[in-house]
Amino acid sequence: MKTSRSLYTVLLASALLTACSNDEAIPGRWYTSEQVALGERIFQENCQRCHGERAAGTTADWREPLPDGRYPPPPLDGSAHAWHHPLSQLERTVRLGGAPVGGWMPAFGDKLSDAEIKAVLAYFQSLWPDRIYQAWLGRGGLD
Ligand code: HEC
Repeated sequence: MKTSRSLYTVLLASALLTACSNDEAIPGRWYTSEQVALGERIFQENCQRCHGERAAGTTADWREPLPDGRYPPPPLDGSAHAWHHPLSQLERTVRLGGAPVGGWMPAFGDKLSDAEIKAVLAYFQSLWPDRIYQAWLGRGGLD
């Protein structure tokens, strides 16, 4: 009993250490907690005004056009469509903006480095429930 309890403590401690270390991917995810922290700052500075706090969107229904006919920026927290797109396409949207698909999101390719774009994707993906992240992986999110 005593042995198994201390073994348990060791296992728990090493699990915690793994979870807290910054340069290793978060278990089951492609990104590190360092990328999430950097991405959160980038998101707040560049994306939040359109995509909302914690990427939850700024309108009651992102499928309803705005009074001027444009579609509102969708939530990126896993509750809308972002998880239908592989990482490469999400990256492309941030770099080139909405113009290639007839949208109005600004391009960030001149403003953010590739590493910063990766970090901001890591941030909003960190808000996805595990179920959504797994579904995204299943659709070839990392292909
Ligand atoms: C001026 C408003 C605005 C800003 C700022 C903005 N976006 Fe967007 N974003 C949009 C709109 C609007 C769309 C929907 C497509 C379109 O119309 O271009 C969109 C779409 C997206 C999509 C595709 C979502 C999907 O479901 O397919 C991603 C990913 C995204 N934005 C990420 C970002 C990130 C990351 C930032 C900050 C670096 C950002 N956006 C800043 C307005 C904005």
